Amino acid sequence: MAIELDVHPLSNGFGAEVRGVDLATCGTGIHRAVVDVFHRHGVLLLRGQTLTPSQQMAFSRAFGTPETNERREYTYPGIPEIFVLSNKVENGRTIGDVDAGQGWHTDSSYLANPVMCTMLYAMEVPPEGSDTLFADLVAAFAALPPERQAALDGLQVQHSWRALMELLKADVAPGDDRFPDVVHPLVRAHPVDGRRALWVSSGTTRGIVGMPNPEGLELLAELMAYVTQERFVFRHKWQAGDVLVWDNRCTLHTGTPFDKTRYVRHVHRTWMLDDAVRGR
Ligand code: SIN
Repeated sequence: MAIELDVHPLSNGFGAEVRGVDLATCGTGIHRAVVDVFHRHGVLLLRGQTLTPSQQMAFSRAFGTPETNERREYTYPGIPEIFVLSNKVENGRTIGDVDAGQGWHTDSSYLANPVMCTMLYAMEVPPEGSDTLFADLVAAFAALPPERQAALDGLQVQHSWRALMELLKADVAPGDDRFPDVVHPLVRAHPVDGRRALWVSSGTTRGIVGMPNPEGLELLAELMAYVTQERFVFRHKWQAGDVLVWDNRCTLHTGTPFDKTRYVRHVHRTWMLDDAVRGR
């Protein structure tokens, strides 16, 4: 028998809140039903949750294989799949990355198989600031005139880990080629229902294949400005106990700042791979 969940739209046909589920105790059948909702809505919210790290891992696994994070200085002790976003200080050191995810992007687009989705579980949040913003790339593509859709469909974007490192001013040795540049389609069909997303991003993009720069970079900048207009953007205001999951195949997101001298933000993040893609 199909499991009926109490599902409410977050904004304008984009995003869904599932109510009445306690993720810590509901079991794998309900986890799977929640994941089904996620696949159709871009952003998924469940409020009022209390999760241990292993309970967050159990829910994360319902989406796909959780990815370990390379930056071990900020992973949860003993669980390298949980990345800590926090400005808490313990034993004289900040225990998490305070500034992760500022600037519009989709996660790990510099990889051939980027992570499918990202989960944040918020334990402490500031009373103001630190909202997370989401751009609905499906609505943005659908709102384009058919001739513009046709002109963009088929274009390929070059994504580069090195470009991101340059932006972050990170030290990378000249010969360090651990993530060579990759190419992704600009218009991407969602594997679950075929809805098409204008899969542009910033931070990792070097240009459009076959289009000289600055023309390619100018087109990407124009599309970024287009998809991040207010009409396509949902602003999530955090409450402690929120579990938020977004679909990197059809959304962009950005964190926003908060006053770190006054407030604490303490969040656990997991990244899940699309097992169907990995198995191919
Ligand atoms: C992220 O992009 O990974 C984090 C965004 C946020 O903390 O709001």
